Amino acid sequence: MDNRIPVVAANWKMNKTISEGKLFVEILNNKILYKPEVDIILCASYPLLFQMNLLLDSGNIQLGAQNMHWELSGPFTGEVSPLMLKSCGVQWVILGHSERRHLFHETDETIMKKVISALKSGIKPIFCVGEKIDERKSGRTEEVLERQLSGLLETINEVELNRFIFAYEPVWAIGTGENATPSQVKITHRFIRERISRRIPECLEKLRIIYGGSVNLDNAKELIEIEGVDGFLIGGASLEVESFEKIINIVKENE
Ligand code: PGA
Repeated sequence: MDNRIPVVAANWKMNKTISEGKLFVEILNNKILYKPEVDIILCASYPLLFQMNLLLDSGNIQLGAQNMHWELSGPFTGEVSPLMLKSCGVQWVILGHSERRHLFHETDETIMKKVISALKSGIKPIFCVGEKIDERKSGRTEEVLERQLSGLLETINEVELNRFIFAYEPVWAIGTGENATPSQVKITHRFIRERISRRIPECLEKLRIIYGGSVNLDNAKELIEIEGVDGFLIGGASLEVESFEKIINIVKENE
């Protein structure tokens, strides 16, 4: 891997109560006693964030949210603003996740509003892109990624881009137990890196692009060895602290 600090991010999705989240953090805190050479990020549901932040005071583990509204406040029943997330100690937010795009019909436009608002509020985006299976099969992967990235590339500058983590998550690999092949991952990560660097050349070496989609203990080693893979966004395998920690160690050992 180049000079980029690798990332292991947990996406717990709609899982864990407050006490389960706290227990996970307490156990992980005891295992991660010193600042690791890996950025570890736990993206939890809203009700857990405040309590988890109280336990993450060493700074060795960072806190992320899984969504947010783009407005800072107002009549938006059921929504959560970036200011609220900041007040819970949130440093990262997952935006553009395929479950938000496809189950909750978020568009590239609304995702961009969220990106801009997150950056203004000092929250760093974990920006997800990925194609569906029919798009991959019909050879439209790059076209889809291009569309998902284009609004972003028209809008943001180098300084802002340095605060991002990009996640390539093929939709057909999420929660299915199916992985993209190493060659698909390598080619797609390279496409994303080159596409972004075409707009902002300074990003070529600095940009962190992580892979997500059924990452687990059995495939983490093979996946992290792929050129251009800077870590993982992990759903299912991040729910058990033991497997999550083992994947962190696999990523560390690859350094
Ligand atoms: P998964 O989820 O690891 O369970 O496939 C990944 C994600 O949705 O971020």
